[in-house]
Amino acid sequence: MDFQFISWEAAPCTQKDPLQPAAWLRKEFSVDTGLTAARLHMTSLGNYIPYVNGIRPYGSLLTPGYTEYSVRLQYQTYDVTSLLKDGVNCLSAVVGDGWYRGSCGPMGMRATYGTTLALAAVLELCYGEKTVTVSTDPSWKWTNNGPICRQDIKLLEYYDARKELTGWNLPGYDDSLWGTCTASSYGGEVIPTEGEAVLAHERFSPVMFTDAKGNTVLDFGQNIAGYVSFRVRGKAGDKLTMIHGEALDENGCFTVANLGDSAILRLGQELTYILKDGLQQYEPMFLVCGFRYVKITADCEVLPENFEAAAIYSDLPMTGDFECSNPKINRLVKNIQWSLKGNFVDIPTDCPHRERAGWSGDINVFSQCAALLSDDRKFLRKWIKDLILTQREDGAVLSIVPKVFMMNRKSNETTPGAAGWADAITQIPMQQYLSFGDTEILELCYDAMKKHVEFNRKRAAEEGKLKKKLDKSPDKCYVLDTGYHYGEWLEPGAANLVDGMKAAVAPDSEVATAWFFYSAKTLSEVAEILGKAEDAAEYAVLAEEIRKAYIAHFLKDGVPDSSRQCKYVRPLYMGIVQGEDKARTAKALNDLVVSNGYRIGTGFLSTYQILNVLSDNGYVESAYRMLENEECPGWLYEVNKGATTIWEGWDAVDPKTNKVKHKSMNHYSPGAALSWLWTDCAGIRSLAPGYRKIQISPLPGGSFTYAKAIYRSVSGEIASSWKKEDGEFVLDVVIPPDVEAKVVLPDGTVYENAATGRYTCKI
Ligand code: BGC
Repeated sequence: MDFQFISWEAAPCTQKDPLQPAAWLRKEFSVDTGLTAARLHMTSLGNYIPYVNGIRPYGSLLTPGYTEYSVRLQYQTYDVTSLLKDGVNCLSAVVGDGWYRGSCGPMGMRATYGTTLALAAVLELCYGEKTVTVSTDPSWKWTNNGPICRQDIKLLEYYDARKELTGWNLPGYDDSLWGTCTASSYGGEVIPTEGEAVLAHERFSPVMFTDAKGNTVLDFGQNIAGYVSFRVRGKAGDKLTMIHGEALDENGCFTVANLGDSAILRLGQELTYILKDGLQQYEPMFLVCGFRYVKITADCEVLPENFEAAAIYSDLPMTGDFECSNPKINRLVKNIQWSLKGNFVDIPTDCPHRERAGWSGDINVFSQCAALLSDDRKFLRKWIKDLILTQREDGAVLSIVPKVFMMNRKSNETTPGAAGWADAITQIPMQQYLSFGDTEILELCYDAMKKHVEFNRKRAAEEGKLKKKLDKSPDKCYVLDTGYHYGEWLEPGAANLVDGMKAAVAPDSEVATAWFFYSAKTLSEVAEILGKAEDAAEYAVLAEEIRKAYIAHFLKDGVPDSSRQCKYVRPLYMGIVQGEDKARTAKALNDLVVSNGYRIGTGFLSTYQILNVLSDNGYVESAYRMLENEECPGWLYEVNKGATTIWEGWDAVDPKTNKVKHKSMNHYSPGAALSWLWTDCAGIRSLAPGYRKIQISPLPGGSFTYAKAIYRSVSGEIASSWKKEDGEFVLDVVIPPDVEAKVVLPDGTVYENAATGRYTCKI
């Protein structure tokens, strides 16, 4: 597509400049009789909203979508045939800062990708065989003197309805006082849309209350990413403001303190609407918020029935359902589904409000669960491409993609090569292959995976603090103790800041070496799958050397020696400890879990592994008891405190004081362990990529009297539902046609080559 970019701004807008108004752009053109089809292709530097003769063509929100803009930019294509008429027509767009120039990443830096917005459009008018195009060029007219006086994707939207430009996007509007555009350019590649469309899905009506501080608060009942649309009646100049948050404090008052709002780091999430006379309605055009509650102040009357929240997220097919006899677990399952929705808004993010960044570690630990809950192939493929495109020359994979600036503008490469974060490049493609059976993603990522492992191999040859003490060990070149690594991250009781500082002082080389091993092992397996026999052999040897070094330097007599659960979970999950040592390690872990009252003790990197590790090693009941534990730290503690999404920190609400801490309440990473409900509780396991061969081996336990799981795999719908009834165990299964299946009942009865279809087995 041959795009001509146009711009309109006299001066660039940098990080230091005030927030800018939105730009309104229009162009009239003629359509002759005999039009057979019309397609509009559009993109922008910034986010755009298109209109054809005043109508927004059906399509994604938040266009052009979030990619590594320094390299590539998506365009969208709309079928606009039915929106055109013979004679004069109008093509127009509103453009805001979006991610391109808006507030991005943990520090909310603005102007990350550029300082000047631009628009590009090609409208193809087809008259049978003949095609005429209307493109953006300097004859387009623009103004920024419209109703959106200030805007940002995260900070705020300030809309003054008195300044509405009635009819601006229809033919015949008098734009003689508007400016003309200038030709502009974009240095990267313009590509067709690769991701899923971001759409508005569920809608929520609020309950309104006044809190103890006198705030008027709307409670939408569900923590989401999205916006609030509303209808109000008032007089010109009346003001309405909405601040979006996700928590109430210990007194039930609205707060955004948990999201770290301060003079330096602004959460924003603020809408200001200045009324015109009469009845009017509005829906934010550029602002997106993570919220359940809205604090509202208004000069006009606020009727809750006139307010509605819309959840927006990438339109992925949802593939996993689960229900059981414990209603709190059912709420927890909803919470993880909602954390996926809130954080799958064009890119996978850590949380939808505070940082909204493409943290690679978060989606790394969540990828198995995500692939059970949704068909995320298209969504993740787009992001992984950016992960590859931002990989450094030396092989280091970044922790945030697309790139963002942190404290200053010296570097936009966040913690390159951090263990567990950078390893997204090996683990996500492998997970995608296992879940969906497609080798293409492995081909796409192979070179990047190899560069990542080689980067670690190079770093392991360097000396960090630990290795200075290992002078004589011949295997020390397999121990990784240089670079910045977050470590286990946020174990119960830990704070982000403290963990960050600990990691800065010295990397946890146990964590780094384990992930070095795990990626080398995965790379060898991928090489095998792709028929790269030499690489497969080489990386298998490397993995084995790292494994031996890990055992020598981080274990005592073959087992971990620690009071931290993560130190046992990691080597078990990754296959570092084997045979007798594996059984001893698992027993030691189970002992720790029991003595901790079945409360979870892991952080970010092991929480997603612990339930599998327990049940895979014969401690099924412990896994149930940990999952159903209602004390802090534990998943059901959050449910008891009214959570509707998964929290970043186990004690985001203090158990004693009910004070909210500086932790997000919408992070999917600690909920990743819930894939266990499908794989272990219901026992749906894939034995061949893409569920071409499966095992159904439910593991009943805990308080559950029944469990029902469905997974709509690429090989067809699989279901496993069990119940305990009159002393019997009854299992209903659904096995799709052409899928080879093995059914294993809890008493050990095995049905090899189980029939396909729907049927019941009893014990
Ligand atoms: C984010 C995480 C992220 C981490 C890096 C946090 O502030 O919210 O989820 O992965 O930083 O450790």
